[in-house]
Amino acid sequence: MKLWAGRFEKNTDRLVDKLNASIAYDQRMYREDITGSMAHAAMLGAQGIIPRSEADLIVKALGEILEDCEAGKVQFSEEHEDIHMNIEVLLTQRIGDAGKRLHTARSRNDQVAVDLKMYLRREIDALQEKVRALIAAICRKASDHLESIMPGYTHLQRAQPSTFAHYTMAYAEMLRRDAGRLADCRARLNLCPLGSGAMGGTTYPIDRARTAAALGFDGPTENSIDGVSDRDYVLELASALSILMMHLSRFSEEIILWASYEFGFVSLDDAYATGSSIMPQKKNPDIAELVRGKTGRVYGDLMGLLTVMKGLPLAYNKDMQEDKEAIFDAVDTVSLCLDVFTPMYGTMTVCTGRLRRAAAEGFINATDCADYLVKKGMPFRDAYTCVGRLVRSCIETGQTLETLPLAAYRAVSDVFDQDVYDAIDLMTCLQGRTVPGGPAPETVRAHISRVEAWLSEKETTT
Ligand code: ARG
Repeated sequence: MKLWAGRFEKNTDRLVDKLNASIAYDQRMYREDITGSMAHAAMLGAQGIIPRSEADLIVKALGEILEDCEAGKVQFSEEHEDIHMNIEVLLTQRIGDAGKRLHTARSRNDQVAVDLKMYLRREIDALQEKVRALIAAICRKASDHLESIMPGYTHLQRAQPSTFAHYTMAYAEMLRRDAGRLADCRARLNLCPLGSGAMGGTTYPIDRARTAAALGFDGPTENSIDGVSDRDYVLELASALSILMMHLSRFSEEIILWASYEFGFVSLDDAYATGSSIMPQKKNPDIAELVRGKTGRVYGDLMGLLTVMKGLPLAYNKDMQEDKEAIFDAVDTVSLCLDVFTPMYGTMTVCTGRLRRAAAEGFINATDCADYLVKKGMPFRDAYTCVGRLVRSCIETGQTLETLPLAAYRAVSDVFDQDVYDAIDLMTCLQGRTVPGGPAPETVRAHISRVEAWLSEKETTT
């Protein structure tokens, strides 16, 4: 018999059960479902809505069910549809009538919202840890490569001097914003819907502040209709995770390029690369490719969720049960990607010689060469034209700005002197870029320290 079978004369069709049941995927919320029920039962007892002795019995039995669940001793059944009814049935099997009082002044609609919020809250905290671990790995590698000159790019064309530290710390900043978005989402979701009932609240003298506090929420939600129909927190989390995956995907794309023979900027550790079944020479960056690929999957989860929600009238509709598989998939995917990406990145070797060569060959000091003329009084536009001509002649003769003889410089402008070679030296170009945010080793070192301080501050606040 279904718990809700009061007005029904027949059992549901077997295929209806199959479509209706969510136990296969919502059972992962058993902990939240049980602790939510414990807080609810304790409150019912304290308010005299059910006898205190029965409330105590319910709390005790739920504690035992939780232990059994943790020990893998509980078999959930599709017949009881979802985690909420499965737990309630188990409870009633164990303690009889007292168990039947648990659902007083509650609906599965506010129950599922509480469960999901608590579950996602925990997942957000775990994801935060993983994001911070990656940021820490980026800082560590950056500290080793403050002077590893490499070209920075625009349009994937060599542009201006950077270092491996400066380049990769850009990703640390993206990930810090991701951590901020996760924190915002967590802060906004942290109001307790319990007490909203099916949608219209309840006439029982419940204490919503008490259950909210017992479950770690900042307070109760303000409107019972919103309490059961809001899934903004699911959408916000899926959005934050999509942006995070977009960052991991861009980073992966860099690593895929860098690990190619053409670039040769990095070499992946054997534990984080794969071979080919036919080409013996291959070492493929599969991890990075999969992270890039799985980004599409997380976007798909977000699109699915947005689409499920877009036409729903207030308040609860069963469509909303579809939120779980999508958000769980997004959380699981991001979590696994971070778990593998971080050690892949940490064990990767940076080929500083190749970086240096790419930096030397790309005319990335051309801007500095123009600035040299500007510092000697020439207007920037004229300086730009002069250096453009120098670059063209370098390309024709297979030279670089460093190897071009002074006579060739002076043929373009007599402002050039021997000191131009100092001005265009890559280390000079780098060390001159001390502007905040720039690639000068000291500037980047200070940036890394700020990020590391931020990391340890977060550690002590959580
Ligand atoms: N399994 C349901 C869900 O995930 C729980 C809420 C069911 N409520 C209802 N009125 N049928 O959304």
